[in-house]
Amino acid sequence: MDKVVFKINGIEYKIGGEYSLDFTLNEFIRTVADLRGTKVMCREGGCGACIVSVKASAPPTNELTTFAVNSCLVSIFSCHGWDIITVEGVGNRRIGYHAIQQRLANLNGTQCGFCTPGWIMSMYSLYESKKNALTSKEIENSFASNICRCTGYRSIADAFKSFANDASDAIKQQVIDLEDIATSKCKGCKSDEESWCIIETNNNIKKEIDSDGQKWYRATKLEDVFQAMKSGDYRIIAGNTGQGVYSYSDQPKTIIDISNVTELKGHELEVNLVLGSAVTLNEMMDVFLKLSEDNEDFSYLKQLWEHMDLVAHIPVRNIGTIGGNLFMKHRHNEFQSDLFVLFETVGGMITIAEGVGKYKKITFPEFLKLDMNKKLIFNVLLPPLSNCCSVKTYKIMPRSQNSHAFVNAGILLQFHWNSQVLEKANIIYGGISPSFIHASKTEMALIGKDPYTNEALEIALKTLAEEVNPTGKEPEPSVEYRKMLAISLFYKAILSLCPNDKINPIYRSGGDVFKREVSKGSQHFDTDKALWPLNKPVKKLEAMLQCSGELVFTNALKKQGNEVYAAFVTADVAPGSIIDNFDTTEAFKVPGVVAFYTAKDIPGKNTFTSPMELTLIVVDEELLCSEKVMYHGQPAGIIVATREKNANTASKLVKINYKSINDRKPLLSVDDILKSSETSTRIINNKTIEPTNIGNDVKSVIKGEFKMGDQYHFYIEPQTCIAKPINDGMEVYSATQWLDLTNISVANCLNVPVNSINVIVQKVGGSYGGKISRSVQVACAAALVAHLLDTTCRLILPLQTNMMCAGKRVPTQNSFEVGVNHKGVIQYLKTTFYQDKGHSKNEMTSGFTLHHIGNCYDTKSWQIVANTALTDKPSNTWCRAPGSAEGVAMTENIMEKIAYETGIDPIEIRIANLNDQTNPIKEMITQLKADADYDNRLEKSKEFNIKNRWRKRAIKMALMQYDVFFFGNYNSIVSIYHGDGSVAIIHGGIEMGQGLNTKVAQVCAYTLGIPLEKVSIKASTSHTSPNTMTTGGSIGSECVSYATIKACEVLLERLAPFRQKGALTWERLIADAFNAGIDLQASYMYSALNDDIKPYCIYGVCALEVEIDILTGNHNVMRVDLLEDTGRSLSPLIDITQIEGAFVMGLGYWTSEKLVYDNATGRLLTDGTWTYKPPGIKDIPADMRIYFSKNTKNEFGVLQSKATGEPALCLATVVIHAIREAVRSARLDAGYPDQWLQIDNPCTVENIFMAVGHKIEDFKLK
Ligand SMILES: Cc1cc2nc3c(=O)[nH]c(=O)nc-3n(C[C@H](O)[C@H](O)[C@H](O)COP(=O)(O)OP(=O)(O)OC[C@H]3O[C@@H](n4cnc5c(N)ncnc54)[C@H](O)[C@@H]3O)c2cc1C
Ligand code: FES
Ligand code: FES
Repeated sequence: MDKVVFKINGIEYKIGGEYSLDFTLNEFIRTVADLRGTKVMCREGGCGACIVSVKASAPPTNELTTFAVNSCLVSIFSCHGWDIITVEGVGNRRIGYHAIQQRLANLNGTQCGFCTPGWIMSMYSLYESKKNALTSKEIENSFASNICRCTGYRSIADAFKSFANDASDAIKQQVIDLEDIATSKCKGCKSDEESWCIIETNNNIKKEIDSDGQKWYRATKLEDVFQAMKSGDYRIIAGNTGQGVYSYSDQPKTIIDISNVTELKGHELEVNLVLGSAVTLNEMMDVFLKLSEDNEDFSYLKQLWEHMDLVAHIPVRNIGTIGGNLFMKHRHNEFQSDLFVLFETVGGMITIAEGVGKYKKITFPEFLKLDMNKKLIFNVLLPPLSNCCSVKTYKIMPRSQNSHAFVNAGILLQFHWNSQVLEKANIIYGGISPSFIHASKTEMALIGKDPYTNEALEIALKTLAEEVNPTGKEPEPSVEYRKMLAISLFYKAILSLCPNDKINPIYRSGGDVFKREVSKGSQHFDTDKALWPLNKPVKKLEAMLQCSGELVFTNALKKQGNEVYAAFVTADVAPGSIIDNFDTTEAFKVPGVVAFYTAKDIPGKNTFTSPMELTLIVVDEELLCSEKVMYHGQPAGIIVATREKNANTASKLVKINYKSINDRKPLLSVDDILKSSETSTRIINNKTIEPTNIGNDVKSVIKGEFKMGDQYHFYIEPQTCIAKPINDGMEVYSATQWLDLTNISVANCLNVPVNSINVIVQKVGGSYGGKISRSVQVACAAALVAHLLDTTCRLILPLQTNMMCAGKRVPTQNSFEVGVNHKGVIQYLKTTFYQDKGHSKNEMTSGFTLHHIGNCYDTKSWQIVANTALTDKPSNTWCRAPGSAEGVAMTENIMEKIAYETGIDPIEIRIANLNDQTNPIKEMITQLKADADYDNRLEKSKEFNIKNRWRKRAIKMALMQYDVFFFGNYNSIVSIYHGDGSVAIIHGGIEMGQGLNTKVAQVCAYTLGIPLEKVSIKASTSHTSPNTMTTGGSIGSECVSYATIKACEVLLERLAPFRQKGALTWERLIADAFNAGIDLQASYMYSALNDDIKPYCIYGVCALEVEIDILTGNHNVMRVDLLEDTGRSLSPLIDITQIEGAFVMGLGYWTSEKLVYDNATGRLLTDGTWTYKPPGIKDIPADMRIYFSKNTKNEFGVLQSKATGEPALCLATVVIHAIREAVRSARLDAGYPDQWLQIDNPCTVENIFMAVGHKIEDFKLK
């Protein structure tokens, strides 16, 4: 039988039908090669966690190339002849680290580190393929494939840009400062041609593999393909990336891999440019670029190249093919294929093969109607275009890169020779409706006209308005938006192409799209060398291991013996429906399915939220829904199989029968509840704070409302748990923020003593509050299976399940009435806010919001009413800066509205309402105004707006007072080893990227007076740290540091006599103490009740400048200056990236991250990377400057430090004020009255565009 042969990190694998045909390269790397450095999260090509590097050759040139792929999308049977390198192969502790790994670590480009291997592999592939020919721009443009939720990207971008041949002096200096060895080379990795171990370059080998009744054909000639198609039940695959967009549910008898079919590869230039259908998108782009330079008739390909640069991302384009993309459009007519739009715009043709030598050339619209059964896309033909033609194309997306188009458009204008009269026009749109391609009537209307006149333009726009009638439903943007956007894009094209003498210069910039300069950032902080290693800018303790993929996460634990995999069976039905029973017949037909459990199988209590004696967790939430469904997608059963994929497949095949299905519309928002008859049971009044001092100088009364939505945490490590029965109980390896809740809940579920469960947390791959309690449901489920089957069980939530059933940031809204005097000073404020907690009262945030709604202002005259609403959604939970971000945002909105209504400068309004004299905010405003050159830039942005009708800028400032308060218990056990004086710490905090371990090690080294290298931190466990509080609220690092200091002090006291006796070195001191029988281990438990760390405030000021493309709704954050009072930072580099990361997560919350639910069932419609868009690397501020307040100390904090993990997120609300101001300018130009404008949050491209209130008559040239 044929075998597929490939290498992973130099080790050869020969595989055949023993693996199922749906085995991906990722599954192989992780479970067969057992290399867990390569991660997996979305399985859609949307996160980059799984990226690996490949060296291989492909026909027709058979030239060896290095390229990155998303291993989650690649079938293992497509890897024949590939030499695959994973992050471990790039460099590791045994062979040495690669310069890319070193530099990312040194420049602090890692936080949780779960995304890091994917970044390394993207960069490594780029570096290997381009060697020294990389520019900063190219580097920054090459990471649309990777999402990092922790860092805010700036540090990653800097680290990678240091490899550019035009690296900025600032970056070079950073590399030097951080002691990177710029020339360092990995000792054992493959950095040159010879060391790669290519298996063979001959691609002409046909393969046929049988696996469990299915056949895999690796075709090399067209005739093989048609031969294999004869079976009838087949699927063609080329790059196999299409499944990232439309996943497959069928299992055809035959799979035909056409990626090596010679006749489908390569390109040629006859009259037309002919591109084989199996040419990859990147190969096509290379051809476009070259030909556009070499051949005038194809100069339009440069425009197509620029458009293609926005299609997917490099790893998808490396293997994704032209034919694959077009066929997806054929099968799913609604697919916004960019290729289809581009090719049709320029009048391309497509050749269909019905057999060898049987070819048919047709147009693209004809292709969509063709029955493609037993046919192949053979090639596409792009015509030469004379210089009488102008081409413009657009793609409008929810973020800068890696997103499908909301609307894409291509416009070709063909003029009569030497005239400005149109002979032909092609106006093509995607994203309008499945059948809409050409705006045919508009095309006709333009013929014979000069399009660069107001008259012709008016006719065209009116005709467009008649014929562009979008269809489609949520989560795609509204039909109104897509219609107006389509019209606007045509206008944009005309603006862009119009000769100078025919256009009013203020319209000209409307024709451009944002072309960002390479982003940059600066970080301003002091460090006191006298305190080092405290306050020293050091890289994270785990950084090198993160960069090599060697760091062990729960999700990365190797196979534990006879492991089984579990998957939740969810109740995908309207909330309020009642479960009757389960039919598992189909599920048990999936190979390897071994068990199915429901609530009835739980030996103890059916809950994962065992109420703690704390207000945080107050009610039982069911582990498995026993009867009444609380929200769409609630876990109701657990299916168990011997393979993860099969467990997930089987989970979809369990049929849940319902006693009744609720046909009442679910209540999904605060407004739904307020409008319902259930307010008495669903609204909880948490507290009302009454004013103590109302003013009576009321000159204006201002009213308003403000709403903000939810946010998915988007941790890259999915919710994961591995439960392993041991002699006297169970080891529960969990990616949780909370040892204690996991410990108690698992014990309660299993009905076993708490001391028999040992919860072990290695490192958590990002959490942001999402793994405080939601992780416990996964842990309890895995433990239940392990308990019932007496074997190790691994449960990893697929992204869709994770997004569906894990709670999110609490949506919050308020209404207010405020009376102010003539200076804008608040005389009274009445505000009522509501928070949507989902279906349970656990983890309420109203208390935090009450703490923060006052922000830095005088609240004596404020009445604040805090309410919580219980909706039919998963129980919402803490999300980075929970409650505080919402509180600050509501109040900053009020300040902006007062400023608007009174006409007083918004900064003056804020200053006028500050809370007291000790508050440093006033000086911070002065400093930041100077650092940011605020006043000057404000004037410049006003000037810019006068000169530009369709581009608008605005600069705004926001203030923050973040109240840190302490809760819970956190222990620390410090052990000194007499052998060498090294120190190990075990503590009850959780390292999840925030740098807790590094800070604690710095504090320990400082306290003991030893080098940092002597200290290491071990995994947290519930056996060593029982009864600890969740790590959250930004306080973990400080509390554990405090406990560590106390434990160190105990040790120092014990060591003091030996020091007095004259031990000269630390090692001698320890040896002497040991010889004298001294206990070299000490522990301490910090308790908020007993210890004297007092609450304190963190202050921040942020100025942000934004530019809006008024014709699309896209925005560009041009510059951010953020000044935060960090006290005396324990570890400045960590605090810098914490601030940047929090701020960028906030930018995502306010601009691109929109969750959409189905109103009828409560189903989450945005449940994957295709529809939910956290910011990417090109969405961060183009210029991000972070300043720490100088000479500030914190008398209350630990060693005078302050927390940094969350506060900066609160400042990101400034972006919506800047956006509103910019849109206001456009509305004033349009003649709208100057009214307060409330743009719905998040301020997505759609909401920004719609807020402009476009009128077609405004779209003119003169
Ligand atoms: C993360 C991500 C982002 C993306 N973003 C965009 C985007 O912004 N814009 C956009 O337009 N596209 C986008 N895509 C789609 C991407 O372009 C396609 O996935 C890719 O081009 C498909 O090529 P493939 O070779 O991988 O196809 P495959 O996945 O191998 O196949 C896809 C389909 O095409 C069929 N097929 C393949 N080749 C042929 C052929 N020669 N003849 C007949 N049938 C064939 C297959 O049977 C299958 O049904 C994105 C995809 C991903 C995963
Ligand atoms: S897991 Fe492959 S891209 Fe997300
Ligand atoms: S470091 Fe990138 S997601 Fe955590």
